[in-house]
Amino acid sequence: MSGNSRSVLSSQTGVHQSLEAVVSRHLNSQWQQPLADHNVEAFAAMKNWRRQRGESMPVWLDSGCGTGYSSCQLARSNPDVLVIGIDQSAHRLLRGHARFELPVNALLLRAECADIWRLMAADGWMLERNFLLYPNPWPKPGHLSRRWHGHPVLPTLLAISQCLELRSNWSIYVEEMAAALAMTGRRALLEQFHPDQPISDFEDKYQASGHALWRLTSCMI
Ligand SMILES: C[S@@+](CC[C@H](N)C(=O)[O-])C[C@H]1O[C@@H](n2cnc3c(N)ncnc32)[C@H](O)[C@@H]1O
Repeated sequence: MSGNSRSVLSSQTGVHQSLEAVVSRHLNSQWQQPLADHNVEAFAAMKNWRRQRGESMPVWLDSGCGTGYSSCQLARSNPDVLVIGIDQSAHRLLRGHARFELPVNALLLRAECADIWRLMAADGWMLERNFLLYPNPWPKPGHLSRRWHGHPVLPTLLAISQCLELRSNWSIYVEEMAAALAMTGRRALLEQFHPDQPISDFEDKYQASGHALWRLTSCMI
């Protein structure tokens, strides 16, 4: 992947005007949507794998991992950590499996993030780090609720993430996440950055196309 991807186009010029109302609604209600069976099964497989590897090891989640290239790199450079990559696209995961060999401390699974986060919360998981690397931006103003900070799962995402790291090539996405976090009293560091070594396929592609890259990190105190 390299080269000529287009920057995010949006009619939004700043933080969405409904962000505060949407986040406030989600922080004050419990999301009740039923869990999909295939996500329940994926979570059972994840639990089993974690039990076999050692439940005392810290867990890092690569949420929306695409091919899993980032999960693989994170696991290789952090052998004392269990890295789990999840993505809803079987096609992307298969492309990754064909391209690189996973280290023993990494697992890739097809699953949907919001269901997995809820299952983790219900089971008492606390992720040492949760990576949201280049989530789909959903740049139309009407798509706010599809961005993770505008989604009803936000309180659960925060509850299971000791440290959250979001990267995007759309500054408004990270600004909105920072604004949502501020509403919960959680502090965030937001910065533009230039990776020496791209961590994921999309980071590689966006950097090669000359996009500005943004990173938000937020850890529980
Ligand atoms: C723009 S790609 C980024 C992939 C990878 N993180 C990277 O940086 O190369 C976004 C990925 O998120 C996945 N995705 C989107 N919504 C998801 C969801 N609700 N649950 C799991 N994966 C999701 C897509 O299938 C896609 O692979």
